[in-house]
Amino acid sequence: MESYINLRTDLTEGILTITINRESKLNALNRETLLELKDVFQYVQDHPKEIQGVILTGSGEKAFAAGADISEFTRINEMSARKFAEEGQEIFQSIENSQTPVVAVINGFALGGGCELAMAAHLRVATASAKFGQPEANLGLIPGYGGTQRLTQLIGKGRAFEYLMTADMISAGQALDWGLVNYVEADRPAAQAKAIEILSKIMKKAPVAIGLVIDAVNAHFEDGTDGYQTEANGFARCFNTQDFKEGVSAFLEKRPARFKGE
Ligand code: COA
Repeated sequence: MESYINLRTDLTEGILTITINRESKLNALNRETLLELKDVFQYVQDHPKEIQGVILTGSGEKAFAAGADISEFTRINEMSARKFAEEGQEIFQSIENSQTPVVAVINGFALGGGCELAMAAHLRVATASAKFGQPEANLGLIPGYGGTQRLTQLIGKGRAFEYLMTADMISAGQALDWGLVNYVEADRPAAQAKAIEILSKIMKKAPVAIGLVIDAVNAHFEDGTDGYQTEANGFARCFNTQDFKEGVSAFLEKRPARFKGE
């Protein structure tokens, strides 16, 4: 894996922790950081045996990510803005479609693009002091990295309208209440431990099946895709894996399954 300027990476026992490392700018997502995220998630996709789970978090005590880097907005016009949004959306989609489970550990502000990044992960664990918001309306903007869509999927239309139009920040407790996060833990070590606990459970399951779960759930939200058909195709595909044979044998032999991702 490459070493990055704006990301720190640590691979321990199959879990890659990716830390956005622009603490002095509250981990704001400049273009360089986004391209590094694209690169590291490509690496994850290419190395499924080496990396079986991903944790995405922010450096420092204050922020997960305080949004897109606003200083880069001054150089953008209507045409380049569309490209900016589409490129960002493509990178976030690659995270959402990752066959390796991704948990965001939200350790502080998750604002604008930071909240959108957290929503692109499969699961979210927040610290009690985390704060969430889509403050774009304060800048005369709307989200551009999929926020209007994923927010509506996660918290529903009425709450999404309130969150987007008031641009208010909400607490971790409210985010939990609204279904924006899966868990709230006291502090970063506890949130990191929770993420590892969840990933460790998932990593004991058959990796191909986990990837197919991700595809089938995502299919529900894809225009023009029949989610039921995606599910049926995935179900059928499982019957052609070694892991399915191992899972059934292990059950019948009353022993834990040893899945290989094949
Ligand atoms: N883009 C670029 N720089 C950002 C940033 C962003 N989204 N968010 C924070 N920063 C920078 C600040 O400019 C400041 O840099 P400086 O020290 O060189 O001046 C540094 O990070 C610290 O931020 P600061 O505003 O001083 O911290 P704070 O504790 O007073 O306020 C926030 C924290 C999160 C409330 C505030 O930084 C903020 O509102 N950020 C913008 C959030 C936003 O609108 N995001 C959506 C973008 S579309």
